[in-house]
Amino acid sequence: MSKSYHIETYGCQMNVADSELVSAMLNDSGYKETDDINSADAIFVNTCAIREHAEDKVHSRLGFYHKIKMQKPSTIIGVLGCMAQNLKEDILESKPYVDIVLGPDSYRKLPEMLSDRAKIDTSHIVDTKLSRYEVYDNLFPSRKEGINAWVSIMRGCDKFCTFCIVPFTRGRERSRSIEGIINEVKIAVQNGFSEITLLGQNVNSYNFEGNKFHTLLSKVAEVKNVKRIRYTSPHPQDMSVEVLDVMKDYDNICNYVHLPLQAGNNNILKRMNRTYTRERFIELANLIRNKLPKVGISTDIIVGFPGENDFEFNETLQVMDEVKFDSAFTFKYSSRPGTKASGYKDHVSENEKQIRLEKVIDKQKTHTKARNENFINNIEEVLVEKDSKRSDKQWAGRTDSNKWVIFDKNTEKIGDFVPVRINSANGITLQGSIEKIYEMEFAT
Ligand code: 5AD
Ligand code: SF4
Repeated sequence: MSKSYHIETYGCQMNVADSELVSAMLNDSGYKETDDINSADAIFVNTCAIREHAEDKVHSRLGFYHKIKMQKPSTIIGVLGCMAQNLKEDILESKPYVDIVLGPDSYRKLPEMLSDRAKIDTSHIVDTKLSRYEVYDNLFPSRKEGINAWVSIMRGCDKFCTFCIVPFTRGRERSRSIEGIINEVKIAVQNGFSEITLLGQNVNSYNFEGNKFHTLLSKVAEVKNVKRIRYTSPHPQDMSVEVLDVMKDYDNICNYVHLPLQAGNNNILKRMNRTYTRERFIELANLIRNKLPKVGISTDIIVGFPGENDFEFNETLQVMDEVKFDSAFTFKYSSRPGTKASGYKDHVSENEKQIRLEKVIDKQKTHTKARNENFINNIEEVLVEKDSKRSDKQWAGRTDSNKWVIFDKNTEKIGDFVPVRINSANGITLQGSIEKIYEMEFAT
């Protein structure tokens, strides 16, 4: 009988995509995926190290796996991904129940390691070496059903923002071949995925043999039957006019840009090594809104970076007022050992970070509401994605500008595009109803 495995994934979409690669490799070597963690022969956790909170969650999961292993000592436990590097020492010293530790560039070794482990009961198997070349170009991920296929186009990051652990956990930037990416997109479309999201830690610094991100984007847009294309996460520094022009030229590239601000004060931006000023950022956001009318712009904001004073924090609020983002992911600064900022002095108190976070969240709520209210009475093309959380009589789907819309079910099904008239905007979602005129046109 074939052995089974269970895999849990924490962190960003890159990790989701990596877990799909790991699944593909395990399935190819005869393992079967199971949802039942207690009966699995092997348990893997794909980990995230971006903030302390993410690491805490993984530690608590490891405690839980340990209990399972005490009941069933043959269970193999594997730690994958961004925490592997940091956990290596800890595991070797104090977590004897962990069998395998693999960093993000070593997944190809997993099937072989599992079979070695079955043959001899060696001590831990560890490989956290980072590669300059590994892009898993020839592997096709095992995707679950759904609307969206994550397609990894580059790995690693060379930006070295001073708060960020990613350049250390995922290593140097490298891009995958255009041919490999296009092949994967074609197969995903054949398998019924309507939406393709191009992924990378720094997606718009893509560069394969001199071909930049905008060239890749247009080639993906030309693949037959790709209905929607998104990409994440870009860096403002690499947000070129060419990228915006390609977005404008192709209808199937979504009208949505994630533009991480992080902070709105020039001194803090400099100390974060973000390579742009508040003025440049605002100019870029205006350029995006001018080139792409109705675009949705989201952002990431960190509050309480070491040394951030009230004046500097208020400048972040001011940039928010200028740009009026459609949505924002907001974080309290979390010190990551090994990063440059972890050595900076003047840490902002937890209490002050919380106060600042709430101010940012409150401001964003008013901006999201105002932006969403602009959509009222529009007829939006919505991709039906899933049941709404509140009622199975309603669908939840997204506009191309990445706004969730809730509307009553009719005869449509998941994966359909439907015209929805927006009636109201509450919280972060829009409420609408299927537009009848179009329905009649669709029916003929
Ligand atoms: N503390 C808080 N937030 C962080 N991010 C990255 N590193 C840290 C950190 N040390 C945030 C940034 C990034 C997002 C993915 O996570 O805003 O854009
Ligand atoms: Fe981290 Fe900065 Fe690279 Fe983004 S661009 S992954 S925040 S170092």
